[in-house]
Amino acid sequence: MPRTAYVNGRYVPHARAAVHVEDRGYQFADGVYEVCEVARGHIVDMTRHLDRLARSLGELSIAWPVSRAALVTIMREVVRRNRVEDGLVYLQVTRGVASRDHVFPVKPTRPALVITAKRSDPAAAASRAENGVKVITVPENRWERVDIKTIGLLPNVLARQKAKEAGAAEAWFVDDDGTVKEGAATNAWIVTRDGVLVTRPADRGILRGITRATAFDVAAKLGYHVEERGFTVEEAQAAREAFITAATTVIMPVVDIDGKPVANGHPGEVATSLRRAFFDVAEKTPA
Ligand code: PDD
Repeated sequence: MPRTAYVNGRYVPHARAAVHVEDRGYQFADGVYEVCEVARGHIVDMTRHLDRLARSLGELSIAWPVSRAALVTIMREVVRRNRVEDGLVYLQVTRGVASRDHVFPVKPTRPALVITAKRSDPAAAASRAENGVKVITVPENRWERVDIKTIGLLPNVLARQKAKEAGAAEAWFVDDDGTVKEGAATNAWIVTRDGVLVTRPADRGILRGITRATAFDVAAKLGYHVEERGFTVEEAQAAREAFITAATTVIMPVVDIDGKPVANGHPGEVATSLRRAFFDVAEKTPA
């Protein structure tokens, strides 16, 4: 089935979906994005994703391309037109098209909006979760405003590529003080020997993940205690469990960090139970 994308007011064949060469997203990464999980025909945690989009746009003084209500309608329509039952919906807003100049255009541009959706195979994801994934660590080399979900992702791209070349699924950025920040496209968690869930505070230095936020809700429902603090690579390697969270992976057990197995090298009970309960707890918007 041919895919359909939404580009600046029009639904177009995915293969021909295009933006102008002087779109500031293309030239300066001057834009923001969101990725929402689609599960069993529902967009997951839409409200939280759009709240974060509002914050990202505000931080960069980019206007909403359409109203929030219209955005919801378009996202649902793109998911429907692509017949995505399980997969992802991606949305990107850039400052728009203007003659290349670093400063914001004097004459305000219309922000550009692109929305795409793609299917994924839930069985393949379940099998990855049953085996767990490996991560490597890399030195933090990103700017300080990673709390804004911008499309400027080159350090993340390079880190992920390095992970892939090492046979791993994710790379964790590590701060100068030896603590883990987050993954190239996921948040990082461990479970201590006493069964406490630990993840870095999201007030600065990492993206405040939506899956992370909902994982707090799931943890509360299952009666797990969560502590927001930094942890080192060594602590993670010696932990009872480790896992990552993102809209693309939901909750994914980590079984190996820099070549050292976590616990017995198999997914643990906490990550597995969080993953199992996630969909029930998350907000679900029918597509
Ligand atoms: N990435 N940290 C970073 C740097 C991320 O890029 C992401 C998401 C997360 C997790 O956030 P959330 O739970 O809201 O998905 C944390 C998306 C999925 C991506 O770039 O594909």
